[in-house]
Amino acid sequence: MADLKILGISGSLRKASFNTAALRTCAELMPAGMTMTYARLDDIPIFNQDVFDAGLPESAKRFRAEVAAADGLLIASPEYNFSLSAALKNAIDWGSRPPNQVFQDKPIAIFSASQGPMGGARVQYDLRRILGQIWGHVLPRPEVFIGNAPSKFDAHGKLTDETTRKFLSDLLVGFKAWIVRMQVKK
Ligand SMILES: Cc1cc2nc3c(=O)[nH]c(=O)nc-3n(C[C@H](O)[C@H](O)[C@H](O)COP(=O)(O)O)c2cc1C
Repeated sequence: MADLKILGISGSLRKASFNTAALRTCAELMPAGMTMTYARLDDIPIFNQDVFDAGLPESAKRFRAEVAAADGLLIASPEYNFSLSAALKNAIDWGSRPPNQVFQDKPIAIFSASQGPMGGARVQYDLRRILGQIWGHVLPRPEVFIGNAPSKFDAHGKLTDETTRKFLSDLLVGFKAWIVRMQVKK
């Protein structure tokens, strides 16, 4: 059987982002039979329905095509003012417009990393609400919140905290089963 194609989406544009670093770690921790590529969000313009209607910018077209082609989305989200980063919300908005909105029936797993102690606990519920309303199927559990992120990565952005690595491994095992389950139900 072909590998499940996972599209990794980090909601942070920072080079030294903890979310992006954790997402890259997920590629190491994934069970066999899954491979990950990464979406780029930093070149997608701010959503404007007039622009959408006139013809999608290449970057938005690329993002929609990548989401559509993926068997599952793995989203690593920072928490900005208790909610999503503008970059992530913007990309979701571009993907969400009909025709053929690309999140329809897509299996999705989410996690968050934050410098605060709660690890982005608040953003995850916004993300679930938003993705649910566009018929994305977000894995309910396990939930992974990487709090106090600077203490869990080394200077090169390697996730060194073993407990967090185990949490992410468990999430990925659950995500694989979730995707297979969704594919059977189709
Ligand atoms: C605009 C802005 C708002 C933020 N708001 C929150 C917040 O509500 N909760 C939180 O835990 N951290 C907040 N932070 C701190 C982030 O957790 C921190 O910048 C983190 O490193 C972002 O993720 P990244 O490392 O993947 O870029 C905020 C940061 C920015 C830039």
